[in-house]
Parts: sequence; C-alpha cells; structure tokens
Amino acid sequence: MTETPTDIPTDIPTEAPAAGFPGSAMWDTRYAAAATSASSVWSLDPNEFVAATLADTTPGTAIDLGCGEGRNALWLAQRGWQVTAVDFSGPGLASGHRRATELGVQIDFVHADATVWRSPRQVDLVLLAYLQLDAAGLAAAIDLSAAALAPGGRLVLVAHDVDNVSHGVGGPQDRSILTTVDALHAAVAAVPEVGASGGGLEIERCEQYLRPIGDGHAVDVVLIARRI
Ligand SMILES: C[S@@+](CC[C@H](N)C(=O)[O-])C[C@H]1O[C@@H](n2cnc3c(N)ncnc32)[C@H](O)[C@@H]1O
Repeated sequence: MTETPTDIPTDIPTEAPAAGFPGSAMWDTRYAAAATSASSVWSLDPNEFVAATLADTTPGTAIDLGCGEGRNALWLAQRGWQVTAVDFSGPGLASGHRRATELGVQIDFVHADATVWRSPRQVDLVLLAYLQLDAAGLAAAIDLSAAALAPGGRLVLVAHDVDNVSHGVGGPQDRSILTTVDALHAAVAAVPEVGASGGGLEIERCEQYLRPIGDGHAVDVVLIARRI
C-alpha cells in the first residue's frame, strides 16, 4: 500500500479509540489538506512568545501538548531539548514527523487526547500553545501538565484571549475555546496537589500579551508557572 503524507507513521504510538478522537476531524481535515498540497497550516517558525521565553533556558526534557505540525517542538529539539509532542490529529503528527525527519531531529510523537493523556515521566517543561479547549478541557490539560512536571519544572502556556474577538486580529471567534487571565489564575489555583511533596503550581507570570500582526495585533494571554 502507498503511504500518503497524512498517514500516521507506524512508530508513533496511538491512544486513539477505533472510531478516532471525537473533535479531531476539523484539525485532521486542515492538516491533511495542507500536507497534500505540500504546504502547512502554521508557519515553520516557533511562536514568538515561546521563543522569547525559552531561548536562554538550558535544554532538558519537554512535552509539547497540542503540538499540531510541531513548529515549537521542532524548535526545542533543534536546541537540544528531548521532546515528547502530543496531539490528537494524526495528519498533524504526520506532518511534524516528516519535518523532524527532514531536519534530522528526534522527537517522540504521541497520538493522544491532551485532556486525558498522562505522561509516563516527569519533565522540565510542559508547553501548551493555542490548544483551544473549552474551560473544562483546559483545566484538565493544566492539571495533567502539573502532574507531568518535575519539581521546579515550568508550565509555559500561550492562548488566544477572549478580548481578541473585540480588540485583536485573526484567531478563532468562538469564545468558548478562548480564555482570560482570570480563568488561568483560577485553573492554576484549582490544580490538585501533585507528587510526593504535595506541590502545586506557582504563577510567575500571567497577563495579556499583544502579538503584532501586520498593522495590528492579536490579543494573547500567556502563563508561566513553576511546579513547587
Ligand atoms: C491552534 S493549533 C496549535 C498547534 C501548535 N501548538 C502550534 O502552536 O502551532 C491547536 C492544536 O491542538 C490540537 N488539539 C486540540 N484539542 C486537542 C486535544 N483534546 N488533544 C490533543 N490535541 C488537541 C489540534 O489538533 C491542533 O493541532
């Protein structure tokens, strides 16, 4: 059988139910359409907040939750991080895997739902970039991220802010998958205690972040929190 650019490589472990992940279809269609025209949905460059935040950080182990086509995971791996990149879209992962092969970097891709997937090991960094989940899904992903962090490890999150709909450029317009500074404070405060030390997450930074786009800007919200 001939492999298509959207086939999930056999070395990517999958936790997908037989019928596939409910909710991944929209992403699958977008990534598959891009891949079949030798293009991509997102740029090859890392998100600017991710790059600015992590450029001077000593590489360690990382999880990119909702990695899409892997732009941030690839950037981290090229800088020496050992990255596990998780997404529920098979075509997205297939594109990320193909790019990693082209660039000669090693990434452990996992086909899983970020709201239920549990990392088998603790890491130094969990990255969530524009995961676009509803409040319950985002809270679950943040809880699981806290559990996946080693003490002292960092959660780095960037998302579209609700204010982007009225004051920003581009991005999804469905408010149910956008978030706010207050909602992120509440989600972090609700993280159950994790690990033998019973630690949670301590916020280092949580604020709106204006990302320039053309003559305007997008309104993002960013969170950096450290596992106690
Ligand atoms: C806007 S894209 C961002 C991709 C990537 N983080 C980036 O910044 O380029 C959102 C990604 O989240 C993934 N996603 C959404 N819900 C998910 C879930 N419940 N589990 C795993 N991945 C999910 C989608 O498949 C998509 O690749």
